[in-house]
Amino acid sequence: MGYRIAGVVLFAICSVLIGEMNYSSRLPQVRLTQGKEGFEKYCRKCHSLEAGESGFGPTLHRIASVAPTRRSGQSAVEYLWESVVDPAAFKATEGIMPVGLASEIGREKLFQIISYLMSVEGNRDYASLWGVASKWQPVASEVKGEVEWSLMRLNRGKELFYGKGKCAECHILNPVNSADYLLAPSLSGVGVNDEAYLRESLNCPSCYLSRGYRFGKAMIEDELVSGRLIEREDGLILVNRKDSGYLVTKISKNADVEWSETKTSLMPAYADGAFSSEEMDDLILFLKSLR
Ligand code: HEC
Ligand code: HEC
Repeated sequence: MGYRIAGVVLFAICSVLIGEMNYSSRLPQVRLTQGKEGFEKYCRKCHSLEAGESGFGPTLHRIASVAPTRRSGQSAVEYLWESVVDPAAFKATEGIMPVGLASEIGREKLFQIISYLMSVEGNRDYASLWGVASKWQPVASEVKGEVEWSLMRLNRGKELFYGKGKCAECHILNPVNSADYLLAPSLSGVGVNDEAYLRESLNCPSCYLSRGYRFGKAMIEDELVSGRLIEREDGLILVNRKDSGYLVTKISKNADVEWSETKTSLMPAYADGAFSSEEMDDLILFLKSLR
């Protein structure tokens, strides 16, 4: 009896070891429950699976169908795997994925998580996924993650951006067409600037106007119209915010209208206690994450 148990245990240890060494030649059993648990633990804090607005990251609703359309020449499984192991390779939306997450999770667990994401839409191409997963080289030095960041603070910064700061009334983070930055520049990519620049942009918007942005005012039928000034061959355009859209005023060249340029940005200054210093730090952290 004693021998038999020892034998079984020995066999189990051997197969675990062999399994580890030969991971690339063997498709692991797909365990969707484990994948779901992994998703809840590692991904849910930033991603939802429901349609619409997500948390700090975009929703992964229908991601298996979206994935093959993201980068030309990349299959769904290649894109999904790369999204986690090399988040900097492609920006789907604003924000940053933590570097080193994949190394922390490990190859097989990540395989289960992504299999689960695929299964939600009936995609069972697990063998191709393992084909990609088995070739991946984890980077040991990444395990701890070099970027020091706090999810809570990032989230607070994001809330301030959309809420109290009302930044989104003028700035569209993921512009789809040029009308989206008619009034204010898109802030996607603004995180490459240093912190001092971002702070000054908030404290004193008029100290340095973003390239391509000028402001002006004109008297039109006894009413003072002001806004972003765009000078064109056939005249002037003034753009300002109105309700949840824009007010675009065109002034043709031969119209007899007095106008002047001002050096004051449309963007309000947030220097005087609009935010506490902590709030300002969180907002800056959020802006830094827009790469
Ligand atoms: C700290 C927040 C955070 C965590 C944790 C996180 N992500 Fe992300 N993820 C993001 C952000 C922000 C983006 C958008 C920027 C980008 O594409 O790099 C993103 C993008 C993605 C995309 C591309 C989405 C698209 O529409 O193309 C996939 C896929 C993805 N994440 C999967 C995962 C998986 C799987 C996990 C868990 C193992 C995970 N993420 C954990 C923040 C996070
Ligand atoms: C009323 C509209 C409006 C609001 C509200 C607004 N902005 Fe702006 N913002 C602008 C305009 C217009 C510019 C370009 C002119 C300039 O540099 O001031 C700008 C420029 C910026 C820049 C510099 C961008 C660059 O590439 O140089 C940053 C950063 C910025 N805004 C962040 C914010 C944040 C954060 C908030 C919310 C706390 C905010 N803005 C609220 C209109 C607005």
